[in-house]
Amino acid sequence: MENNIKMSTLQKKNAKISIYANQLRFPVSPILYGLFFEEIDNAGDGGLYAELIRNRSFEDSTVPERCYVENGELHSPTGWVAPFNDSELIPSWRLIQEEGCQADTFLDDREPLSSTNPISLRVEVKKINVGRIAVANEGYWGIPVKKGAKYLLSFYAKKDETFSGNLEITLESEAGKIYAAEKIVIDSTKWCKYELTLESKADDAKAVFVISTKDLGTFWLELVSLFPEETWRKKKNGMRSDLVEMLEGLNPKFFRFPGGCVVEGFSFETAFKWKKTIGDIKDRSSHFTLWHYHTTNGIGYHEYLQFAEDMGMEMMFVVNCGMTCQARNPELVPIDKLDEWVQDMLDAIEYANGDINTKWGALRAKNGHPESFGLKYVEIGNENFGPEYNVRYKVFYYALKEKYPEIITIFNTHWEVGTETEGLPVEIADEHFYPGSEYFQMYHNMYDYYDRKGPKIYVGEYGQIADNHTATLKGALSEAAFMTGMERNQDIVIMSSYAPLFANVNNALWNPNLIYFNGTSVYGTPSYYVQKIFGENRGDMVVEACVNTDKCKQFISGGVTLSISDLIGIKDIQVINDNTLLIKEHELTGQESNVIRDGDYICIGDSSWKNYEMNFKVKVKKEIRIRILDNREIFDNQNYYQWEIGPDGNSKLVHIGGFSRVKFGSSKKIELEDEWQDGKIEVRENNICCFLNGNLVHEHQIAEIPYLTSMTTLDCKNNELIVKMVNASEHEISTIIDIHGTDVLSEGEQIILTSQDPKDNNSMEEPTKVSPVIKPFIVNDSSFNYDMAPYSLVVLKIKVLSENCDTNK
Ligand code: AHR
Repeated sequence: MENNIKMSTLQKKNAKISIYANQLRFPVSPILYGLFFEEIDNAGDGGLYAELIRNRSFEDSTVPERCYVENGELHSPTGWVAPFNDSELIPSWRLIQEEGCQADTFLDDREPLSSTNPISLRVEVKKINVGRIAVANEGYWGIPVKKGAKYLLSFYAKKDETFSGNLEITLESEAGKIYAAEKIVIDSTKWCKYELTLESKADDAKAVFVISTKDLGTFWLELVSLFPEETWRKKKNGMRSDLVEMLEGLNPKFFRFPGGCVVEGFSFETAFKWKKTIGDIKDRSSHFTLWHYHTTNGIGYHEYLQFAEDMGMEMMFVVNCGMTCQARNPELVPIDKLDEWVQDMLDAIEYANGDINTKWGALRAKNGHPESFGLKYVEIGNENFGPEYNVRYKVFYYALKEKYPEIITIFNTHWEVGTETEGLPVEIADEHFYPGSEYFQMYHNMYDYYDRKGPKIYVGEYGQIADNHTATLKGALSEAAFMTGMERNQDIVIMSSYAPLFANVNNALWNPNLIYFNGTSVYGTPSYYVQKIFGENRGDMVVEACVNTDKCKQFISGGVTLSISDLIGIKDIQVINDNTLLIKEHELTGQESNVIRDGDYICIGDSSWKNYEMNFKVKVKKEIRIRILDNREIFDNQNYYQWEIGPDGNSKLVHIGGFSRVKFGSSKKIELEDEWQDGKIEVRENNICCFLNGNLVHEHQIAEIPYLTSMTTLDCKNNELIVKMVNASEHEISTIIDIHGTDVLSEGEQIILTSQDPKDNNSMEEPTKVSPVIKPFIVNDSSFNYDMAPYSLVVLKIKVLSENCDTNK
């Protein structure tokens, strides 16, 4: 279906792109686009992992060690609180007692099948009449079955002496209509494995799986597992083909796993421990993650590696570096107790790559993969930061490099984007961005200024969270604008991955995600199509190109915010706008009538404040943070600038938007004294200046938003210039494209992503409403005009005369 491109009635904007096709800057990064996978929003269980039975080993009500549950909330050892569903005793399972029958079900931890999954289900049938006693599982929001499709069931069971062992296994509708039925006899009082195949006679997206009996007695069930026969590449313990096909569509080059915050956990026991995720699924422990549900770890360490290999992706394993999630009341492993955690990382590498004569290499071979997987990247920690991280990072880094110098390590710079690695040995730094859409447009060029002698950059997680966390065309285009900047700088930005990747629509705790699905259908958001277009149109060499575009000046305003704890280091605050005194306070307490006390913060002024000068006295004992131009939006939407002065004299000016932060220039060292010093912040139009004792410490000109962002590569095999152009604005843009240094041939192609409304998104009903349209593109001259529709991404593929494309230049 061809998109209807609506031209704006607003004033047209202008831009010019000058492309110098014979000036090749550097080769494209062959691994720029990859996948970030995390067990969040049921991305794995109830998603990519094709298992159909939920709570298959009856562990879902297990409360993690050292935690307790009260009023439906789980409390971690350090006081982090999260929802925990303990209202249903046996989640996802229900007992059916038909006409005059009676039974009880119990979670039983005596005589476990496996010590790693100690709980089984005991069914005591006490009374039988004409009907049946059954236990039913509803899977992940229904068990999707298809007419003629086969389903492979396996389970462990045992019985007491009184029970006949006769069971019937059925797939049925909610109302009890039978789609498939098989009989089986449990013939032992010891655990045995039983397997059979069910073939469905009908389609139903929300079928129920039922194990029933008409006999008295007691039986136990454990690890009840049902897989469609048709998994991706027909693999056992496999994945959903439709979801993998969406990933294939992105042409990804690496696979980062297993997360995300899941790596960190909210306590030591809930951190990802790879050794508990390998081998027979009956021996894998499930665990409750910080995304509020239990994971079976059915997709475990081995499956992650195998999946990456099958998809031809490089492997990136993220290890816990002895810290739980710093945003969730962290626990830190003492430095002298890190050995076990470091060893865990070394063992993981040995499992992935080690010779089969090594302990862990032998286990990998036993698990079906004698050859090395060739794990290439290890990220040390996820979103960890600060001195606690730095010290642990070093321990992990040196231990890893000593044994595996060929593995490439990745450092976290979360919350410290702009990266200064403080003398640490850093090969690649991982930066994350979850801001509103303007933020991505404003900082589309941030990597133009990065130090080429610094570490390489991996933009490990990014996705806009504007419009109340919804995926929209506009949001996707803002990401695309930022991606043109990544691509222009792919000499240092060598890898990136959008996050999160997948969400089951029934449990989308974090939004937006790249791909949404339910039991039977899947769709990609507009961001998915941006990723696809960028991932498929790479070229070989980045070409010199100069973009001149109209820009949108932003008029920034907002008040001042201080935290209560900063007040010991700040006094004599005075804010003046021209000659008007806006506020003057000697000792601020938060009780004043002209300020607002908001929890730990004191908010001065309001969103109308602009062009002001703030004078104050400052004495830095602990870090001082002064927010300016603050409109005090809620956390997700927050947007302010902040001057930060550390007790070591480290001074930074940063911009915080959503869950993201950009630091302007390098940190500065300032002289701190024991006496009160004179601080001043000046906000004039879009300029911010910070002074200490009259000396300018930071100056920043708030960026204008360009209407057009663009970058160009040359595809040497096809003799094609690939020009990416992003217009994330409401204006049409008249763009002159001037191509120098080559002759253009007439035929070409244009790929266009746009839609009627910038808020448009895809859905189960309209999965490709916002998706690319490909059309021929005829060029007659090496200088031509291209009118870009409002809110559009365009990729022009322009055939050029064969060039000398030396990728080593
Ligand atoms: O992508 C979702 C979460 O965002 C990741 O788990 C975490 O790393 C980040 O905060």
